[in-house]
Amino acid sequence: MIQRRNFVRLVGGGAVAVATAGTLAACSLTPEYPAAAVEIWRGPGHETDVRKRAIAYAVTAPNPHNRQPWLLDVDTPDTLTLYCDTERLLPETDPFGRQILIGHGAFIELLVMALAEQGVRSEVQLWPEGELPRTLAAWSRKPVARLVLSPGARPDPLFAQVLLRHTPKMRYDTTQPVSAQALQKLIEAGGQRGGGVQSGGTVDAVRVEPLRKLCLDAARVELLTPATAMESVRLMRVGPDEILQHRDGISITSRMARIFSVLGQFDRSRPPTADSAAYKQALQTFDDYSNTAMGFVWLSTARNGRNDQIETGRAYVRQQLQATAAGVGIHPMSQALQEFPEMAPHFEAVHRMLLERPAPRTVDDSTVQMMCRIGYPFASVPATPRRPLPQFFRRAAAA
Ligand SMILES: Cc1cc2nc3c(=O)[nH]c(=O)nc-3n(C[C@H](O)[C@H](O)[C@H](O)COP(=O)(O)O)c2cc1C
Repeated sequence: MIQRRNFVRLVGGGAVAVATAGTLAACSLTPEYPAAAVEIWRGPGHETDVRKRAIAYAVTAPNPHNRQPWLLDVDTPDTLTLYCDTERLLPETDPFGRQILIGHGAFIELLVMALAEQGVRSEVQLWPEGELPRTLAAWSRKPVARLVLSPGARPDPLFAQVLLRHTPKMRYDTTQPVSAQALQKLIEAGGQRGGGVQSGGTVDAVRVEPLRKLCLDAARVELLTPATAMESVRLMRVGPDEILQHRDGISITSRMARIFSVLGQFDRSRPPTADSAAYKQALQTFDDYSNTAMGFVWLSTARNGRNDQIETGRAYVRQQLQATAAGVGIHPMSQALQEFPEMAPHFEAVHRMLLERPAPRTVDDSTVQMMCRIGYPFASVPATPRRPLPQFFRRAAAA
């Protein structure tokens, strides 16, 4: 019989921690998601509507905690209007919505590419009714972007990578360094679109080592700050039923985690303490990520306006598509870039280390927008769930 103290707890941003007196330490994420949860990765199938076909590709965009916070209005012909779904924000780890909007930039870039693939040109107008304010609580249903469509666009060669792109939330092979040439290609891919996004990177051990340590130190803060730890815990989807029900957040398929969930032995009501096995296991996952980083790439902007955040997302997804084509793994490690008060020392450190500047104090200051570990994953990288397409439409009639 399972003892009450042998509960399972799970925490972490894309990380998994499982513990019952140490016996479950071997539990891990496995790629066996229910087929329906990952059906979007087979493409839009028989859908004939040009805009809906494009949206089916765009919802595969990378986005923080896989919240998929996008809503579309397709009621006006030859137009697509994108809104942020304010029910899907991350107020603890992303209190100013910066990362959420990077996810919108990635969405827009894939949307434009998927339309171009069908010969449709998009004129992207950001913030047609004004920018979203700095404070999340004041966010309203103002559109993020309006795309006005017309005939005539050339396909983008990177489009071939869209359904192959997956974020490698796994260890990298430490026997396989990333070459200076491969790094250079990734840096170029990050800066290719322009839009004010600066792209940097390193595979130099003298720089990589302190960045690995920074990632781990920052993860410790996220895990030990109750509000940020609980934000992740609440987004955990354990086992096929929960994964199918939500098709977002942090999907967990480990057999042991499922058994404990079925038996009602999961404790997802409290954050883990520093002496708990759950915390130690979560930290081990971050240790695996950080200490197998064979290099880092980052994107920064000279300002931190809403357009800069959107442009970063557009640049980032292109960089990850290019990495997919090159077979290199690129995995965001965003803990040090989170803007809650307890993270402030690491937020400061990451700006000094990457930009040789202090952390931004105002919208006019240089900002590191993304930092990713790079390397070669040990195994093929699984696709992550996406919600059913009709859920992304703002009006029921469009579903
Ligand atoms: C702005 C941003 C920040 C992210 N930060 C992290 C992170 O800190 N850790 C992580 O594992 N993944 C991070 N991701 C990747 C998402 O977890 C991933 O895109 C999402 O789970 C969907 O998976 P997919 O990219 O394989 O489709 C980030 C993505 C974006 C766009």
